[in-house]
Amino acid sequence: MSSPEPIKFTDGAAYERFMAPWSRSAGTLFLDWLAPRPGLAWADVGAGNGAFTELLVAKSAPSSVCAIDPSDAQIATARQKFAAKPVELSIGDAMALPYDRDRFDVAVMALALFFVPDARKGASEMVRVTKPGGMVASYTWDIVRGGTPTQPLWEELDALGIPAARPPSADISRFEALKALWAEIGLSNIETRELVVERTFADFDDYWLSMVVSSPSGVMGKLSEAQGAELKRRLQARLPASASGAITVHASATAIKGRKAA
Ligand SMILES: C[S@@+](CC[C@H](N)C(=O)[O-])C[C@H]1O[C@@H](n2cnc3c(N)ncnc32)[C@H](O)[C@@H]1O
Repeated sequence: MSSPEPIKFTDGAAYERFMAPWSRSAGTLFLDWLAPRPGLAWADVGAGNGAFTELLVAKSAPSSVCAIDPSDAQIATARQKFAAKPVELSIGDAMALPYDRDRFDVAVMALALFFVPDARKGASEMVRVTKPGGMVASYTWDIVRGGTPTQPLWEELDALGIPAARPPSADISRFEALKALWAEIGLSNIETRELVVERTFADFDDYWLSMVVSSPSGVMGKLSEAQGAELKRRLQARLPASASGAITVHASATAIKGRKAA
């Protein structure tokens, strides 16, 4: 079995079909839990195509948001969303944020920390750019316990001998790892929360287009016609459809928040 190529986010429109609805439902629970007051300055790190950023603007009434992601394609899609909103978009890496220290009231990573090759460095950068007394928070799919919405696809690809690419820092999705990291980088008042969500696809074709064809792992390019047909057969057998043909997939995420010393 050869190792899979890393996941690359090269298509912001495909991300909209694949992950944005998940990002909005889990992001809603995350923001409700953070319960920030309005008028704060936010850093949204690993902002992708702006799906979570848009939610943050709508729900949390920030005074400003600096949203950053290394993918040109994701940021290009995000630019179409924020023409008249208080969002500054940049291309850059969580491990070297181009912001001054103590600049933001809140720094967040939504579904991004597990994609950062050095998760500790990424989290430390969030602490550096957050004001004393400010909040640093993150949520990721609970990959280790099978909570990612891509779990059915990953398992069926593995079973076919076509290993699915996983995020490079998947282990940081564990509550124990998150709590240890938040304490190690000097945060206090640490709290964690499980976020449980589901998404209903109109039918199997909707699921296939959204979660397989649009996947940033580029799975379709790795399958022969026969393998594609077999993957479809396996997923169809595994994902029960309602009487109307709808398919509901469940997922869970691990969230953490903490405060920088005042
Ligand atoms: C699953 S998406 C999450 C996007 C968005 N926050 C959301 O909730 O929809 C993960 C994002 O992490 C970004 N990413 C990957 N490596 C990164 C890094 N080193 N620093 C910051 N972001 C990174 C990817 O480009 C991708 O857009």
